[in-house]
Amino acid sequence: MKKHVNFLILLLFLGVQVMAQGVKKNTSIRSGELWPDTDGKHINAHGGGVLFHKGKYYWFGEHKTAGRGGNSTLFGVGAYVSDDLYNWKNAGIVLKVEEDASSEIVKGCVIERPKVVYNQKTGKFVMWFHLELKGKGYEAARTGLAVSDSPTGPYTYVKSFRPNAGQWPMNLDPELKHRTVGMEQLKWWTDEWRREVEKGLFIRRDLEQGQMSRDMTVFVDDDGKAYHIHSSEENLTLHIAELTDDYMDFTGKWSVLAPAGHNEAPAIGKRNGKYFMITSGCTGWEPNEARSFVAESIWGPWKPLGNPAVGEGADRTFESQSTYILPVQGKKDAFIFMADRWRPRNPIDGRYVWLPLEFEGDKPVLKWQDEWSLDVFNTKYKKKSAPAAKGKASAK
Ligand code: GAL
Repeated sequence: MKKHVNFLILLLFLGVQVMAQGVKKNTSIRSGELWPDTDGKHINAHGGGVLFHKGKYYWFGEHKTAGRGGNSTLFGVGAYVSDDLYNWKNAGIVLKVEEDASSEIVKGCVIERPKVVYNQKTGKFVMWFHLELKGKGYEAARTGLAVSDSPTGPYTYVKSFRPNAGQWPMNLDPELKHRTVGMEQLKWWTDEWRREVEKGLFIRRDLEQGQMSRDMTVFVDDDGKAYHIHSSEENLTLHIAELTDDYMDFTGKWSVLAPAGHNEAPAIGKRNGKYFMITSGCTGWEPNEARSFVAESIWGPWKPLGNPAVGEGADRTFESQSTYILPVQGKKDAFIFMADRWRPRNPIDGRYVWLPLEFEGDKPVLKWQDEWSLDVFNTKYKKKSAPAAKGKASAK
């Protein structure tokens, strides 16, 4: 008898657990709120990017800690796994910082904006990230590389460096290689100085040691070629650089985007055979007005299309800064703009702003939504095939 009662209590307990789980399930995206993972803890994956692999989404990001100083990397890169983009299971720290003081990724370094791509040829998961060496502020400006056999790691640290040492960009006039105007002759932020930046002032300065690489992303094109896009030249100019077939190095082929344009936080997508990019200006953790660009070739020319955000809060990108453009699987032209609402005084409390991208012609458009679900993409899709449909067409 007692056995039966115990068994019934166990069943009751399990039932309650299942119900509690059910209740906790997220069914929508609410930008700026706390985002509980499947354990009920706010997701800790800032400056992130998402990889889709074999039916699952993997979200990689900076694992921050509490209080001032929480932006330096005390643990490593965190990952979360989801099959619906609403409910994320913590997969832990997948690239761990090291205890050895001589390591480039020693505890206390700064690892930002990690992005993971899968290489079909090698079967490896390749992680690139912005690395700043411990105790050196933001002066190292290196890109870092780690690799794993599994999406959730462990990732093995490989190396860090400044890209494209000794290589000229393909879209710089070769005549400018020999230009003799140097940094010391110019006053920063003057028009003359800006024109010289466009003429390769910083590229020449950094040619031998490699170009600076801070805010970055990685993009895999339809043909399997991958590109590393990073803020370079003291954050003045974006560099687009081709990766080798195994994604583990740079080929030396690269081009500049918006020289002296002061762009950070690059996020890129491809639609109707064209590339589109969203960036931010450079105001550190403070939000600013986003920018957008479109190009027919990844190498440019990139046409500036202005601020993609519209409506109230658009001048500060709804208090956020871009980090990634996430294509929603199985839906045509469905992209999520992923951004961070930083909390520099308590970085672990940083929030996420995810918004569905709309398009006006080639221009990506962002509108604030308090709460939305992936159904907005179905509605949009249906709207296209049945333009006569009226009424509550979208969740705007
Ligand atoms: C931002 C950048 C962040 C971080 C921060 C540091 O502009 O986008 O990733 O580097 O500066 O101040």
